[in-house]
Amino acid sequence: MTHARPVVAVRRAVARAAVVLAAVAGVHGPAAPLGAQRAAADAGIPHLRREGQATQLVVDGRPFLVRGGELGNSTATGADAMARAWPRLRALHLNTVLAPVSWELIEPEEGRYDFRSVDRLLAGARAHDLRLVLLWFGSWKNSMSSYAPTWVKTDQRRFPRTEATRGAGQEILSPFAEANVAADARAFAALMRHLRRVDGARHTVLMVQVENEIGMIPEARDHSATADSLFAAPVPAALLHRLQARRDSLAPELRARWATSGFRTAGSWGAVFGPGLHTDELFMAWHFARYADRVAAAGKREYPLPMFVNAALIRPGYTPGRYVSAGPLPHLVDVWRAGAPSLDLLSPDIYFPNVHEWATRYARTGTPLFVPEARLSPQVAVDALWAVGAHAAIGYSPFAIENADPATAPIGRAYALLASMDSLVLAHQRRGTIAGVMPPIAVDGTVDATPQRVVLGGPYALTVRFADPPGPPVISPGQPGAAAMGGAPAPSAPVAPPAPRGGLIIALGPDDYLVAGTGLVVTFAPADGVGQAGILSVDEGRFVQGRWMPTMRLNGDQTHQGRHLSIATDGFGVQRVRLYRYR
Ligand code: DGJ
Repeated sequence: MTHARPVVAVRRAVARAAVVLAAVAGVHGPAAPLGAQRAAADAGIPHLRREGQATQLVVDGRPFLVRGGELGNSTATGADAMARAWPRLRALHLNTVLAPVSWELIEPEEGRYDFRSVDRLLAGARAHDLRLVLLWFGSWKNSMSSYAPTWVKTDQRRFPRTEATRGAGQEILSPFAEANVAADARAFAALMRHLRRVDGARHTVLMVQVENEIGMIPEARDHSATADSLFAAPVPAALLHRLQARRDSLAPELRARWATSGFRTAGSWGAVFGPGLHTDELFMAWHFARYADRVAAAGKREYPLPMFVNAALIRPGYTPGRYVSAGPLPHLVDVWRAGAPSLDLLSPDIYFPNVHEWATRYARTGTPLFVPEARLSPQVAVDALWAVGAHAAIGYSPFAIENADPATAPIGRAYALLASMDSLVLAHQRRGTIAGVMPPIAVDGTVDATPQRVVLGGPYALTVRFADPPGPPVISPGQPGAAAMGGAPAPSAPVAPPAPRGGLIIALGPDDYLVAGTGLVVTFAPADGVGQAGILSVDEGRFVQGRWMPTMRLNGDQTHQGRHLSIATDGFGVQRVRLYRYR
């Protein structure tokens, strides 16, 4: 017999309240100076706004939920490929496309800019009524510097690279070289200036990612002479101040490193954090953050769109350098926040199955959750709904989205559903009256389908079970009539491949709930344990121009004779349930 998880939603609301306080205290929250955000808001430029329980992206004066998808790396440079992609992206119900802008294309010769690749993206997006999040493939793309222009690549003396332990150069621009950061920041500033000129009144571009999956691989740090001497130099005071201010709330891994020296507040990297790969990683993270900050700040001076960096995540058991060391990972969040105050978000690229774990770790960093890359799989449809409900995510974006078939891809259905109710979802993110439900999946793929209990501040507790594939109605153990109805499938029944299950729940009122998603069975009880909860009505329906339109009254077998609400795994649906209490 399974047991419901403890209340998740109320705790989440409390946690979010704590985040608000922390933001006011200048500890968490969007890092860009408040003045800059206010100026962007005043000028009508897309910006982040904290309101109630959520920080949201505001576009043309209204909160905006990103139903995103990222293009494969090279697709945007192919006219035919894009001609095929645009209608697909629309048919998948995206509202935003994440697309690279490559340094080599926009600055083919030093100081000569060519923005045709950007303008083509803008024209395509506008023609298909889509927005863009642009990804600056500048100094680094997945650690490497393959997107640097020829004039940078071929002038190693002027634009130094990192070195392996044995002295061989790597195709990774050094984060320690002034010439590198100056050239990158100048190009990025030119891009942002161009965007302000051609898009400042249209707001097709909503946000910009600075670089892509920054980090070191296959060694945790640069071993050039410059890097070695900086590694032996004192840890910068700005970092140590932040760590001291947040000593008790640092990521446990970082705190543990620092504890090895008894929390020393002066000395070299080795003296403060001890020897080892993790200290190499901290050192690189600081310098990468400073570099990304220079680039972002130069861009924001031209056009202050929200900016973020993305991280390649860690495979279990891997050490820094075996995984991409020093990116904006949760255990390095304080290093990145101290080093890069111009960045608004630190984002995870989630290709592992343990989405629940990674998204939760990022949400705890206090920056709004935005997932710019995720594995394109059936599961991503549920992950996106869950993140929007559980963590007030700004948006979600499967990678290589142009490969999804609008006729069959679950992400298209989940996005259609979100599209129909996005202002409602955004309003409940602000109120904290929305929850995400999904069985956590471990990194090895094991699904924890333990029922989850949701209380959204009202008088009822909802117990969510993750339904079996369509078939006989799922019966909750212990419910009246469960035995008579023969709830469990026969042991010999064929095992269907697991379908994604989960979604979001909104409390419209004290006794009025919306459940949206797939593969869900929900039962109800008074939150205070007094008496019992009954179903007054369940309607299947949809939102038309934001208004709820019931399409079918569900009762009888469809609610297991008034015992539960259920949405089968064969599609994404929305149901509205009204409850009452009896003795
Ligand atoms: C993560 C990178 O950020 C993307 O640009 C792309 O290379 C994917 N990996 C490929 O899986």
